[in-house]
Formats: sequence, structure tokens, C-alpha cells
Amino acid sequence: MQISNIAVIGLQWGDEGKGKVVDAVAQLSRYVVRYCGGANAGHSVQIGDQKYALHLIPCGIFQEGVLNIIGNGVAFDPEVALGELAALAERGLRLGPDRLVISSAAHIVMPWHKLQDSLSEAALGADKIGTTIRGIGPCYADKATRTVAIRAGDLTDAGVLGEKIARIAAIKSTIFAALYDAEPIDADAITDEYVEFGRQLAPMIANVGPILRSAGGKGERIMFEGGQGSLLDIDHGTYPFVTSSMVSACGIPGGAGVPPSAVGTVIGVMKAYSSRVGAGPFPSEQDNETGQFLRDRGHEYGTTTGRPRRCGWLDAFAVRYAVELSGVAELAVTLLDVLSGLDELKICTGYQVNGQAMTDYDPAALADAQPIYETLPGWSQDISQCNNYDDLPAAAKAYVARVEELVGIPTSIVSVGPARHQTIFRQSQIEELS
Ligand code: IMP
Repeated sequence: MQISNIAVIGLQWGDEGKGKVVDAVAQLSRYVVRYCGGANAGHSVQIGDQKYALHLIPCGIFQEGVLNIIGNGVAFDPEVALGELAALAERGLRLGPDRLVISSAAHIVMPWHKLQDSLSEAALGADKIGTTIRGIGPCYADKATRTVAIRAGDLTDAGVLGEKIARIAAIKSTIFAALYDAEPIDADAITDEYVEFGRQLAPMIANVGPILRSAGGKGERIMFEGGQGSLLDIDHGTYPFVTSSMVSACGIPGGAGVPPSAVGTVIGVMKAYSSRVGAGPFPSEQDNETGQFLRDRGHEYGTTTGRPRRCGWLDAFAVRYAVELSGVAELAVTLLDVLSGLDELKICTGYQVNGQAMTDYDPAALADAQPIYETLPGWSQDISQCNNYDDLPAAAKAYVARVEELVGIPTSIVSVGPARHQTIFRQSQIEELS
């Protein structure tokens, strides 16, 4: 029997609460696959009173019977992954190759990538991108260069790995000395460290494409777990203030090694307001009391870097663009509880640029965009214990209904808090979710 796969992606600038939604949907799947980004992501899952913050390991690990896969499109940092695996093991969750597999074609984040990320950002000064300094951009740049890249498959052969590290470290040392007056890279120390990483990870490294491409024929569902958010997509986001991989659903076939037809039903995760970390345009930003209210109530501090997030009103114009880009079928609206206590709520429905209304959302033309707002009444009740949609205050339901109208698709999940039980399921195209 052919069943539809599911993709869970972010519709804003990341931090939408994808981890929680992935955890909720993972039980319907045999595989959970990360297809983009790397340890720049920070996915939070709360189970009972236990909180987990995952950066590289897919959020399907909390469901038994799910095989979690790190796809070829991920910038894989073995040091972070092993740290995360050790921390999970300490908490009683031991993951072997029956629970986690890493694509042999995933590119490896090396120490020189992190070094280059930080040197480049420091050199850019006020013009910096505001990256997470996890080496993501330099790793993908080397992937495209090809001659200076190391892939997960290389970790399994100490001879090949040592030769590559020696050769690439010499090239990087020359470039970093010229550009940044940096010290030479210690290739021997890196080789020792990465040979050991390879020894520990080798049982989990495999050619994962065939596993995923044969899943449909066996009636096994795949869930694709997005990282970051669509407005940070390398091609379709607010370039150059983006991350370095294709994080919208457009990146799934390439980043997981499946045909476009395998993407399935796309669930777009959208927080009930907006936030952004790092530099770049953010037309509905509230650099004022409202922004501070959202930051405090929403605990808007980076899971990966701890940086305070910029906060603002929901930008439904941008979300509609992200929905259309990825063919999103239904919304998961998260952090709705954060809005409780605001007298009125604004939603950005479009922009004025040079006195003209922008007709089609253009992520490259946001520098001078002035938001056009619509105002809705707020609600004062605490909604964090609501587990039935009908129990939400009328103003909260009206807010969700207006969002649906503005972005053009229905809501299947409403989240009112971090815990699993703080999740309201509504009508969904995915039968088991309804
Ligand atoms: P990079 O991905 O570390 O190169 O950072 C590029 C931009 O993407 C910066 O503005 C980061 O703050 C942002 N970014 C990267 N990953 C995430 C994420 O998971 N959530 C939110 N923002 C992110």
C-alpha cells in the first residue's frame, strides 16, 4: 500500500517549534530524515518534565521503531553529533545503527570551517550575516568547490581521511594566513581527532538513498524534518541574510535523495508571531515593548547560540509566500499561548515600497518595505491548558481563522505550550492526524 510521506518545514526565519511538531508526527512514520542545515539548527522537544535540545540528531529518536536518517544534504559535524549521542545515552537513550544512520554523502564540518566562519564574520564587522559560527557556510562552499571537501564516507577510511586532511589543511592555512593573518592549522591533531570520530561513527554511516527510495514500495512512511525556516533558504530566502542550504521543501529531493514526488504532504510550522536571529530585513519587527513582551513570554533566546531573538508581529504576507513556495498543505500554529495578555494583535498583510503596494512577495526587495497591518482583538485568558480547539477564547479562534484566510490553507495543529499534551489536533489531510 502506498502511503503519503510527510514533510515538516519552517515557514519563517527558523525557531518556529518544528521539533515539537516532528515529535508529534514521527509516530506515524518509519523514517525521520534531516535533509538540510547542520548543527546551526536547535530543535526542542519536551517529554514529561524532560527537555531536550537537539542540533543534529533528528527529532524522531523519541519514538521507538523510527529509523532516523541524516541525509546527504546535511552539513554534518561529527563532534557535535557524538556529543549529542553521549548526552542522550547519559539520559538513558542509547542510539545504535538500528535507530540512526548517516548518509555517506553528507559533508563533514571540519575545524577550519568553524574557524573560517568566525574569522569571516569578525572581518565583516557591521556587515556580518550574524551566523551561528557552526561552520555551515564554509562547509557548503567547500562542497561546491569539490576538491577541498570531506564527506562522511571518508571518515570510515583512516588512510584516505589522513591524506585529505593534510592536503586541505595546508591550503586552508595558506588562505587564512593571507586573509586573516591566522596561525597554521595543526593537521596531525585534527587527523587524530577525526580518525577517532570515524571509528565511533562508522557503524552508522551508509548509503541511505536506497533505503529511502524503497520505503514507499514497502508501505513505509518517511517524514522529512526541515531545519531553519523558508525565509532563510539559500535560493528563496532574504539573501544574503540566509543560511547556506535549501531549507524549504524544494530542498527535500536533493537533500534526502528521493524523487520530488516523494515529498508528500507538507506541514508548515508557523509561530503565532515572528522572530529572527542574526542580521537581515524583518519588516514587522517590533524593537519596542511589544517585541520585549514576545521575547520574554516566548523565551526567545537561541537554542544554539543563546542570542536574544528579534521579535515582531506575524508577517502573513511572508508566510503566504513560504506556503506557496513549498506547496504547504496545512499549518501548525505554535506558541499561540504567548499572545495571551495583549489587548490587540497586529498581522502584517503586505508591504508598501516607495509608496506602492508590493503585489508579489519579493524576498530581495525588503530593505525599504513598510508593513501594512490589520488589527485584531487580543485575549487575556491563559490558554496553555486548552486541549480542545473549541475551548480557546473566541478572539484566539478568530486570530487563527484570519491567518488561515490570509495564507490560504487550513490549520491542523495548534500548539499552546512546549509539552506534548499542549497540542491541539484539528482536521488534517493525514488521516491518522485528524
Ligand atoms: P548560519 O546558518 O550559521 O550560516 O547562519 C546564517 C543565518 O541563519 C543567521 O542569521 C542565523 O542566525 C540563521 N540561522 C541558522 N540556523 C538557524 C536556526 O536553526 N534557527 C534560526 N536561525 C538560524
